Amino acid sequence: MTYMNHIRILLAALLVLLSAPFLQAQEAEVTIHADQGKSKINKEIYGQFAEHLGSCIYGGLWVGTDSPIPNQRGYRLDVLQALRDLKVPVLRWPGGCFADDYHWRDGIGPKSERPSLRNNNWGGTVEDNSFGTHEFLNLCEMLGCEPYISGNVGSGTVQEMAQWVEYMTGTTDTPMGKLRAQNGRELPWRVKYFGIGNEAWGCGGNMTADYYSDVFRRYNTYLRDQPGNRLYRIASGASDYDYKWTRTCMQKIGRKMDAISVHYYTVKDWNNKGKATAFTPEEYYLTLEKCLDVETVVRRHCQIMDETDPQKHIALMVDEWGTWWDEEEGTIRGHLYQQNCLRDAMVAALMLNVFHKYTDRVKMANIAQVVNVLQAMILTDQKGTGHMVLTPTYHIFQMYQGFQEATHLPLDLQCDSLTTTEGKKVPALSASAARQADGSLILSLANTQLDKEQTVSVSIPGTEATTAEGTILTSQKAEDYNDFEHPDRVKPQPFKGAKVRKGQLTVKLPAKSIVVLNLK
Ligand code: AHR
Repeated sequence: MTYMNHIRILLAALLVLLSAPFLQAQEAEVTIHADQGKSKINKEIYGQFAEHLGSCIYGGLWVGTDSPIPNQRGYRLDVLQALRDLKVPVLRWPGGCFADDYHWRDGIGPKSERPSLRNNNWGGTVEDNSFGTHEFLNLCEMLGCEPYISGNVGSGTVQEMAQWVEYMTGTTDTPMGKLRAQNGRELPWRVKYFGIGNEAWGCGGNMTADYYSDVFRRYNTYLRDQPGNRLYRIASGASDYDYKWTRTCMQKIGRKMDAISVHYYTVKDWNNKGKATAFTPEEYYLTLEKCLDVETVVRRHCQIMDETDPQKHIALMVDEWGTWWDEEEGTIRGHLYQQNCLRDAMVAALMLNVFHKYTDRVKMANIAQVVNVLQAMILTDQKGTGHMVLTPTYHIFQMYQGFQEATHLPLDLQCDSLTTTEGKKVPALSASAARQADGSLILSLANTQLDKEQTVSVSIPGTEATTAEGTILTSQKAEDYNDFEHPDRVKPQPFKGAKVRKGQLTVKLPAKSIVVLNLK
């Protein structure tokens, strides 16, 4: 046994010792302040992200009209339907890092005349540009979602970006609108969300915050709003803990931006990310600890924004988030294809609960990414057999649908917590509540414990709910996942463990489970 293995066993034993008191007490209390709802949970918190990366676009969303895989004008029918069912509110494209290498003119016009490109960021894969602006914006129309375009600041010119906006949203009496019509689309599209660069501190140009702020102001000047289309301008924001970036942009760009982004990935160690479906209990809790640290990050960025924008005119967009594990064996390096298990579903539930809480400032979040990349909603067979599977994370997004556009309700929560080997606490319970348009309440409860059920007493003063119906996502093991042979191993089931009496709710949560209830 190696020295490292000895250390790991010692750490695991310490974790069990530290968690002993926690394992005994299984009661938790939640009080929902149903009369104190102020802020709407923007549906865009449930946003998705589609980058030209691995098989997210090619093979995932798009197979082309000649494919034997059933498709509608080149879009995979199975994936299309799954995304329609998910009610995707907004889709970010074309990157990510790819965005700052992308030249939109290469992706318009007859497909046979489009030049190929080498995807320099992601494995050097050669793409034929058959999925471009028309294909993306038509997809958004088919899904009924808002497009969110990331413009190229890193290697593109101001003119190129300005013309892209005119091409997409200008009328046919503009030069670019005319070109669009020649390419088959007379009516301008509506494009609301526009990102001026991506990760400008890294793959988007390696800039300083000061320099980027000036660059933003310059590019932004020439992005003209076209008739009937107002761009919502999003500045390329910080990587997780880089608070200085946000402060600089807030001071130097200020109200010229509508929002600034932040990226937060649940990764403990970038040099040793770990396997998606094989981990120790210790690694499970350390992952949850890292995931929950997003609250510190979001709160701190919000505080900095409050210093110069107390009225909250400028929004914070977590436009990339999710788990990031080692790539699956046998897949192409740089394509970021990873499996997705119950642990990922737990991460998704916990993150969404945090975003709800800061919904007065956090107006959008985009999980990375929608198909076949990182914490995906959908995985398609990489051998091209045409099989598709919905991940546990997909199921969380579906179970949480009622939160879209509901009014967030503050709550108090008392529960045990586990202290990790790094000395941080992981609460045994995470909860979020909101009031839906029809007046009913939606409540999510996540029992983070691997091995103990938990009884939760929920008080909702002033509300006389008489029914509590809902769904549960759990499985035998936190490592359980869906694959093409077992597509329904981890799948939501009707939940029978909730009882309501005189507005008092009691919920029995199995270990490692996520429950979403509708209270009427
Ligand atoms: O989502 C994968 C990559 O992560 C994106 O391209 C980039 O913006 C981030 O670093």
